[in-house]
Amino acid sequence: MTNGCGGKVAVITGGGRGLGRAFGAALAAHGMRVALIDRDDAAVRAAAAGIGQLATGYAGDVTDEAQIGAIMAAVAKASGGIDILINNAGLHSHEYSQPLAEMGLQKIRRLFDVNVLGTVAVTLAAQPFMAGRKGASIVNIASAAAFSGGGYGTSKLAVIGLTMTFARELASAGIRVNAIAPGIILTDTIRSELPPETVNRVKAMQYLPDDGTEQDIIDAMLYLTSPQARFVTGETLRVTGGLAAGI
Ligand SMILES: NC(=O)c1ccc[n+]([C@@H]2O[C@H](COP(=O)([O-])OP(=O)(O)OC[C@H]3O[C@@H](n4cnc5c(N)ncnc54)[C@H](O)[C@@H]3O)[C@@H](O)[C@H]2O)c1
Repeated sequence: MTNGCGGKVAVITGGGRGLGRAFGAALAAHGMRVALIDRDDAAVRAAAAGIGQLATGYAGDVTDEAQIGAIMAAVAKASGGIDILINNAGLHSHEYSQPLAEMGLQKIRRLFDVNVLGTVAVTLAAQPFMAGRKGASIVNIASAAAFSGGGYGTSKLAVIGLTMTFARELASAGIRVNAIAPGIILTDTIRSELPPETVNRVKAMQYLPDDGTEQDIIDAMLYLTSPQARFVTGETLRVTGGLAAGI
């Protein structure tokens, strides 16, 4: 199956591991050139090497406007433009999922800087290179946590708000903007960070008994970036096994 994007150019933030790396591999398998951005230099280079010739790794922090601007310009120069942007980089480890009073303002600022302002900075830097390209599309990775509060959840609710905002503001440039709100997805980070009891507690709130996998989110991303979604913008697709519906 192809999602009709062969020959196009995709940029994926947080591409060094987990979902970002998996998105890169999936889009390259559909014939796209992929640029992975991650603040972890070694991880992003290894991820690109693992995907092969169609992938390039760039070391960059989504909160650093100058760095991100230079990377977007380099990608566009090398490939002629940008067709797809996946805003996936995000902080969601245990230390960023604590009650606000325990996290303190400095950590809360960093959480919002990466998850919210990082999404803004990367989108603004990419959009001049996406404008007017046929099928141009942005997918933001939110979370089912957006619908249940908490500091992390609030940052992801803002990502959903940004999805609606950019859908409106970028429509005239021919760019669609949607979000995916994953439930619990067993990436390496989730496996190492969350105790099995916590994973099982969340799973018990799903309608479906299955584990959420990277492939489930890849499939949603492939749909939203495909020509089949040409009339879809400003939406958030929950992929949760029924978790969000149960809240
Ligand atoms: N795995 C899940 O269960 C789940 C569920 C809902 C939402 N999400 C969201 O999906 C996204 C990816 O999740 P994952 O499990 O693959 O995460 P992960 O922690 O395994 O990978 C995230 C990557 O982003 C990079 N990154 C972090 N901050 C960055 C920054 N400032 N600039 C550039 N790169 C940065 C990290 O270095 C890392 O390589 C996140 O936004 C997360 O909030 C994940």
